[in-house]
Amino acid sequence: MSIFVDMIGVFDSGAGGLSVLREILKILPRERYIYFADNAFCPYGEKTPQFIQDRARFITDYLLEQGADIVVVACNTATAAAISTLRQEYSIKFIGMEPAVKPAALSSESGVIGVLATAGTLKGSKYLNTKGIYKNDARIEERVGQGFVELVERGLLDGPEVEETVRASLKPLLDEGADRIVLGCTHYPFLREVIQRIAGPDVEVIDPAPAVARQLLRVMTAEGIVREDALEPLPDIRLEASGDPTTSNRLLQRIISEK
Ligand code: DGL
Repeated sequence: MSIFVDMIGVFDSGAGGLSVLREILKILPRERYIYFADNAFCPYGEKTPQFIQDRARFITDYLLEQGADIVVVACNTATAAAISTLRQEYSIKFIGMEPAVKPAALSSESGVIGVLATAGTLKGSKYLNTKGIYKNDARIEERVGQGFVELVERGLLDGPEVEETVRASLKPLLDEGADRIVLGCTHYPFLREVIQRIAGPDVEVIDPAPAVARQLLRVMTAEGIVREDALEPLPDIRLEASGDPTTSNRLLQRIISEK
């Protein structure tokens, strides 16, 4: 029986979950990873929960077959639609995304926070419950980041088209007085520079990925499965995609070189 995890599986509807893997690699650099981009079916945002559950099962089966024994659902939409089903049906641990409403609501000075996410995430019970808990700490305004996922999937992270697309969804939140912007979709951190530029220096942009990475570390530490044997922290990452892997490959090289 191994004393460490053989492989950590990470998946998303596309390249977005690499923004979560980037944070995981900072604190768990010695593990082996398999990342699955389900980009043949991207975006998940407007798909039914049943469809996403079916994809999540298919991907989980594949990751398990490849040797993964813990899975990070690096997608807010899939977490909302499928993580409770996955936890019921499989005996491995799943780590999901948390909407970062709490840190935003508790730190906001204007008393207004903005949440950018997909339609599926904003309708999910997890998000609605969290929103209910913090509704007295801050007014919560939300918008779907229209077109954001598609830009990232095209590998387009800056420039006039990105500015225009980001502005259209972000501006209404800023006009409401939001001083915290929660990135409720794992694709959006790849547009963070543009989001911050438009929002200005007084607005804090919050990405939940570092907290999700810490949660993975907590779970693995509790299970005693953190790998400590490798001498050099070498990223050992296999990337698979159900569609064209070009953008995911490019973003993977980018997050590795940023480390
Ligand atoms: N990256 C995803 C999320 O965190 C899914 C985006 C999509 O496919 O619509 O929600």
